[in-house]
Amino acid sequence: MTESVRIRPARGRLGVLFPGMGAVATTTMAGVMLSRRKLGKPVGSLTQMGRLPSPGEAPGRGQLVADAVPLASLDDIVFGGWDIFPDDAYAVAEHAEVLNDKHLAAVRDELTAIRPMPGVFYPEYVPRLRGVHVKTPSSKADAVEQLRDDLRRFKRENGCDRLVVVWTGSTEVRQTPGAVHASVSTFEAGLQASAPEISNSQMYAWACMLEGVPFANGSPNLAADFPAAYELARERRVALSGKDFKTGQTLMKTALAPMLKTRLLGLRGWYSTNILGNRDGEVLDDPDAFKAKETTKLGVLESILVGEENPDLYQGYHHKVRIDYYPPRGDQKEGWDNIDIYGWLGYPMQIKINFLCRDSILAAPVVLDLALLMDLARRADRVGVQEWLGFYFKGPVTPGGQRPVHDLFAQRDVLFTELRAMAAVAALTAPSAPSARPNTNGSVPVAPSEVPS
Ligand SMILES: NC(=O)c1ccc[n+]([C@@H]2O[C@H](COP(=O)([O-])OP(=O)(O)OC[C@H]3O[C@@H](n4cnc5c(N)ncnc54)[C@H](O)[C@@H]3O)[C@@H](O)[C@H]2O)c1
Repeated sequence: MTESVRIRPARGRLGVLFPGMGAVATTTMAGVMLSRRKLGKPVGSLTQMGRLPSPGEAPGRGQLVADAVPLASLDDIVFGGWDIFPDDAYAVAEHAEVLNDKHLAAVRDELTAIRPMPGVFYPEYVPRLRGVHVKTPSSKADAVEQLRDDLRRFKRENGCDRLVVVWTGSTEVRQTPGAVHASVSTFEAGLQASAPEISNSQMYAWACMLEGVPFANGSPNLAADFPAAYELARERRVALSGKDFKTGQTLMKTALAPMLKTRLLGLRGWYSTNILGNRDGEVLDDPDAFKAKETTKLGVLESILVGEENPDLYQGYHHKVRIDYYPPRGDQKEGWDNIDIYGWLGYPMQIKINFLCRDSILAAPVVLDLALLMDLARRADRVGVQEWLGFYFKGPVTPGGQRPVHDLFAQRDVLFTELRAMAAVAALTAPSAPSARPNTNGSVPVAPSEVPS
């Protein structure tokens, strides 16, 4: 092993860009601004509040994650994004009614200064929206070039050292990869021909990869989840992750199902329904967009409670998921789960969950963690799909076609294993200062065998 592996320091400004500056994006921006000024705490964020236990140590113990691995500081983040409506981040946040007036007033000027760049928008992918703040490219290839220009301009004008993009745009109609998605050359040809199979989110992801910008996908869209994208990510040495943030009901499901499995309780059926009244709810009211969401929501139980592994307990249970658009609720989603289980001698029991959550409040820490960890992945030369970030997603992407891990605690263990490997690299930077932040110390050589790929 002659080659060394380094984690480059988090020096300079990090541009965090959102295609889709809606409720989730603006709640994230405002939360980071409030945290910077100590006007609120980034609750739910592993990178800001979590610890990294040593193997065998209880969760909650150990070094702060932010001390263990070299993360960008919140003070170094610059926000930006695109949207198909021209409203600035303050106007969007005010309309979304996620945060209260006191919080919004405190960061009003900063939010008002963030205006979206015009979006790339072919409306057939989001039938419920009519965009008015859109680019008018001559082809899909031209759209990608215009997005690349946006990335370069944003980086230059904001004096950023690095960029990272998190897709917080609307859910698009469900799609499966076709011939155009098979390889870099078929996709490039498809862009030239403005192939109808190429969606908006795919053009953003493609532009990011061509610019070497890590891309995380918070929606169920196919954005970067197809063979041509994996190939381009490898070629351009870019990190990808996705898809669909794991926040409310699915988060609950992937925490509770492991309990049933651990205590060998049987499952007859799991019925989940939600009411939601924000713009995301309106978009999901379209049956084709809902299908995309349904796919990531339904997939989670089958890999935890597996019929073939334990037919007495998990063969043929009924799993149903619904989302209903109900405007009076806005962002305050309410989810109900009815779970029919059975125990000793097959006697039936029920569990009822009523989760009165706030969609964007649950999503914001996930977005922040993904932005910082994708930036870390790039500085640590992690390339392609970052499966260790599956913890944050409903439908973790596995480019090898293997069944994704959905169990929240198994996902956390994978995340911790990867962070420990990176922490080991970081610790070599300043052996005499265990909690030193390597972003002030420079990069560290380490044998590749110490870093899982
Ligand atoms: N909030 C959660 O808990 C949660 C959980 C999982 C996934 N998600 C996903 O995150 C995404 C954002 O959710 P939200 O509640 O902020 O939705 P939102 O509707 O408030 O925001 C989405 C924004 O994307 C914009 N947009 C759509 N297409 C675009 C394009 N091509 N280019 C630029 N902008 C575009 C819309 O105009 C809108 O402003 C959705 O896909 C949602 O399904 C959210």
